[in-house]
Amino acid sequence: MSAQNNPQSAAIESAVAEAVAQIAAAVSVEDLRVVVNAATGKKGQLAAIKAGLGKITDVEERKTVGQAVNDALILVQQAAESRTTDLKRESFAGAIAADRVDMSELALGAAASNRRGRMHLVTQSIERLEDVFVGLGFQIAEGPEVETDFHNFEALNMPPSHPARSMWDTLFIDADPQGSVVLRTHTSPVQIRVMQDWPPPIYAIMPGRVFRKETPDATHMPVFYQIEGLVIDRNITFADLAGTIEAFTKAFFGDDFTSRLRPSYFPFTEPSAEFDIRRHDGSWIELGGCGMVHPRVLTAAGLDPEEWSGFAFGFGIDRMAKERHGVEDIREMYSNDVRFIEQFS
Ligand code: FA5
Repeated sequence: MSAQNNPQSAAIESAVAEAVAQIAAAVSVEDLRVVVNAATGKKGQLAAIKAGLGKITDVEERKTVGQAVNDALILVQQAAESRTTDLKRESFAGAIAADRVDMSELALGAAASNRRGRMHLVTQSIERLEDVFVGLGFQIAEGPEVETDFHNFEALNMPPSHPARSMWDTLFIDADPQGSVVLRTHTSPVQIRVMQDWPPPIYAIMPGRVFRKETPDATHMPVFYQIEGLVIDRNITFADLAGTIEAFTKAFFGDDFTSRLRPSYFPFTEPSAEFDIRRHDGSWIELGGCGMVHPRVLTAAGLDPEEWSGFAFGFGIDRMAKERHGVEDIREMYSNDVRFIEQFS
């Protein structure tokens, strides 16, 4: 009986065919290891045929069957190695696909929504205010947001226990002595610093952030911006103040805007006024306070009130931005909603 026709050959062929099919179907390296062990291990079909070689009496046939079992084992091993390579490649490609970031998607999104940054409305207003006042001959100064009680109140003619201090809902910093350091409630303390540092004549504006213990509503924020103005020269009168404010109103809001000054009270100016502008619907909104610098303030800052006089003003920048752009509610400017911000470039 030839080796090809003996029963062992058919069994070897079918064992190899079965093993190769299972190897091709293995979906993981672990799966593959189980299949290969079953086909080539001691309990496998090929091992059983090998164990029965001794029962084949014909030497030639025994050699042939033995060789066929070895060839079959090699075939199974080769099929397993080739499948291992495929499985590794597939798993690597899978990992790459999972980690892939579709940059084209981002680029398309960015183009669609035009994600270029824009300056905040308040920042735009500060820049415009600076342009207008520099055009009128003013210089720009800045002061600290954390202030001493002296600069924020005392030098502005509000000694301790002065009732006017309660006009501002002050936030105090933990300091020794208690109450000696505050988050500035207005930009007026910068007036004092400028008068202490700059020799007159002074024509200065001082924009900056101020803080009050305030509940937000349509026209109030606890953190907001003011711009202070200070003019110190010889023979300055209230007419200079009124003229400057009118020139500023037209330059900032446009020729069709009207302003008015209403008598008011501030401890650091005498006389004092509120500055209002008229909205398109005919209603008025208060934008700031102003007045002639009080002689006591000049003295506290080291200037002789007999020689120097001047005026000062302090406007709310957020409110000016709100009115200029027709924003209904001041809180919208701080909502961080890009759909809102994008309207004002
Ligand atoms: C002052 O702060 C004075 N220092 C202004 C001043 C300066 C008067 C120089 C005289 C001379 P007042 O508290 O009224 O004043 O605030 C000035 C402006 O800041 C207000 O008219 C308003 O436009 C704005 N403002 C006040 N409180 C708020 C707030 N909570 N949120 C937004 N804007 C505010």
